[in-house]
Amino acid sequence: MTRTVYVNGEYLPETEATVSIFDRGFLMADAVYEVTSVLGGKLIDFEGHAVRLKRSLDELDMAEPCTKEELLEIHRKLVELNEIDEGLIYLQVTRGSDGDRDFVFPSEDTKPTTVLFTQNKPGLADSPAAKKGAKIISIEDIRWGRRDIKTVQLLYPSMGKMMAKKAGADDAWMIEDGYVTEGTSNNAYFVKDGVIVTRPLSNDILHGITRKAVLRMAAEAQLKIEERLFTIEEAKEADEAFTTSASAFVMPVVEIDGIALGDGSPGPIAKRLREIYLDESRKAAI
Ligand code: PDD
Repeated sequence: MTRTVYVNGEYLPETEATVSIFDRGFLMADAVYEVTSVLGGKLIDFEGHAVRLKRSLDELDMAEPCTKEELLEIHRKLVELNEIDEGLIYLQVTRGSDGDRDFVFPSEDTKPTTVLFTQNKPGLADSPAAKKGAKIISIEDIRWGRRDIKTVQLLYPSMGKMMAKKAGADDAWMIEDGYVTEGTSNNAYFVKDGVIVTRPLSNDILHGITRKAVLRMAAEAQLKIEERLFTIEEAKEADEAFTTSASAFVMPVVEIDGIALGDGSPGPIAKRLREIYLDESRKAAI
């Protein structure tokens, strides 16, 4: 089945979808994005992703390409056209193109470019990777200072994943000024003596939509949470650790820089939070 994608108001076969070579998303990484998961053919936390998209656009003085209602409609139509039961929807909005390359932003009447496509991922919820848990390495965080804006500047996170792969691990956590910021594409947590520790929100990390939901659910389950800076050494001595993201939900971490956490298998709190998150998210999906 050929994938149907969305480009600037049109639903097209992926082979026919095009964007200008002068698009600022392509030339300058002048673009923001969102990834929303689909379970049982329904959208997980669409509202959260739509609100964060608006915030990213506002922070960069970019126009909203359409209303939230229209955005929901596009997401739903792509799920339907591509028969997605479990998977992801990728959305990207760029500052568009005024037909040339210039560092200066184009005039305000330049139309943004809006692209959405689906990624079919059967078995996303019942993932073997989550049953095994992830091995991570730590790397330096050399990204720019506005990581709260979900831009498409993903070269360093991609390099981080490659460094992990080369080291025989699954992913990397990044460290700045001695403290863990976040994972290459997820928020980072460890658990010690029943307390969940994660970095507080600031411009240094992405304000994860899954993070917000998982922390709410953890509090409802009477779990203790500390939002504070933490070092990789603390995480290595933890009972367990995990990450959160729209693409992997709650992912247990079983090893950091070659050091096994606990008995080296996914920890009970990470497993429980994954179950609660999947359960509650399915119920609230739209
Ligand atoms: N990544 N931190 C970073 C750097 C991320 O790229 C992501 C998401 C998160 C988690 O945010 P959320 O819970 O809203 O997905 C944290 C997406 C999934 C990606 O780039 O594919």
